[in-house]
Amino acid sequence: MPRTCIIKEDTADEGVCCRYNAGHRELHQITGIESGMTTAATLQDRFSRRIDYLRLSVTDRCDLRCSYCMPQGFSDYELPADWLTFDEIERVVAAFARMGTSRFRITGGEPLLRRNLSGLAARLSSLSGVEDLSLSTNATHLAQHAVALKAAGVTRLNISLDSLCAERLHQITRRDALDEILEGLLVAKASGFAPIKINMVVMADVNEDEVEDMAAFCFRHGFVLRLIETMPMGETGRNAAYVDLQPIRQRLQARFGLVDGIVGGGGPARYLVTPDGKSSIGFITPMSQHFCETCNRVRLSVDGTLYLCLGQENALPLRPMLRAGCCDEELDAAIRSAIELKPERHEFSEQPGKIIRIMSMTGG
Ligand code: 5AD
Ligand code: SF4
Repeated sequence: MPRTCIIKEDTADEGVCCRYNAGHRELHQITGIESGMTTAATLQDRFSRRIDYLRLSVTDRCDLRCSYCMPQGFSDYELPADWLTFDEIERVVAAFARMGTSRFRITGGEPLLRRNLSGLAARLSSLSGVEDLSLSTNATHLAQHAVALKAAGVTRLNISLDSLCAERLHQITRRDALDEILEGLLVAKASGFAPIKINMVVMADVNEDEVEDMAAFCFRHGFVLRLIETMPMGETGRNAAYVDLQPIRQRLQARFGLVDGIVGGGGPARYLVTPDGKSSIGFITPMSQHFCETCNRVRLSVDGTLYLCLGQENALPLRPMLRAGCCDEELDAAIRSAIELKPERHEFSEQPGKIIRIMSMTGG
């Protein structure tokens, strides 16, 4: 729903909706537009990276406590009053879509814990400019929601699954979750989601020895496996048993005769494919092989903060200006100015203690 500017030009510099970012005139200088004019349809940062992908977290809550993510007993959640409402999320997504972002992913925490998520998905997928709406989930509640999510226009799913061994998965997630997750996976497959990607965080002496079994499982079911290195986000991330994926990549390559390949998705994963070209494994290696130079994404947390990088503090809170009734031009200008804050790269290796927020706070 387009809004018109609520600030008169003569009082603009003290204007309510502009004080969070820049003065009114300044905002319009940033965008190069005046109220009512259309906005240029791309977002580009200072390093000539095109930003065309928004990951939006709809909750920081989770029903699991994965050892590399949430501390056991963690309950330091955002208050519901501080969550962006569906209307507010829709406004931000519409703003990004106006500025050329076409791909959106709903994340958390565990997004299926947010009530009526498929209602939100239906609203977002029908917005002009939204070409691709995907979801990341731990799948514990997926069996109940898969059909509704598909009908709501969610096309692709990423599912976290770190082990196929019930006891081991319990050790990692601190809950008995394997049966629910597998059921969720099968219902999702039957509901027509494609591709379904399985995200496995690989940890030394925890599940490192299981990558071959996980690959065989994924090949059998037509899932795309993605192996992920742990990042030092919060104490949990720092304490996780990091393992370099490069030797594991070589191991898998030899075991399955994999060759270099390209799999769509536009993300940081680098893929190997089976000789018949039917199956693939992606490697997400933020630590051993940086991919910051091609980063195309930003993240919106549940409280409406726009984070420019997982591994840096640069962020812009959008909620205050949304709640102060800013107009679309001001929202667009604030987003453009936030993109200017996107840092060149993370410094997880140089400064492993820097990021104290855990993944579910930013949005995974
Ligand atoms: N390092 C890497 N990935 C993480 N995730 C959460 N915490 C971390 C971390 N410290 C990611 C995993 C998980 C998803 C929900 O968030 O990919 O599957
Ligand atoms: Fe929940 Fe995902 Fe964090 Fe595990 S990694 S605790 S599933 S948000």
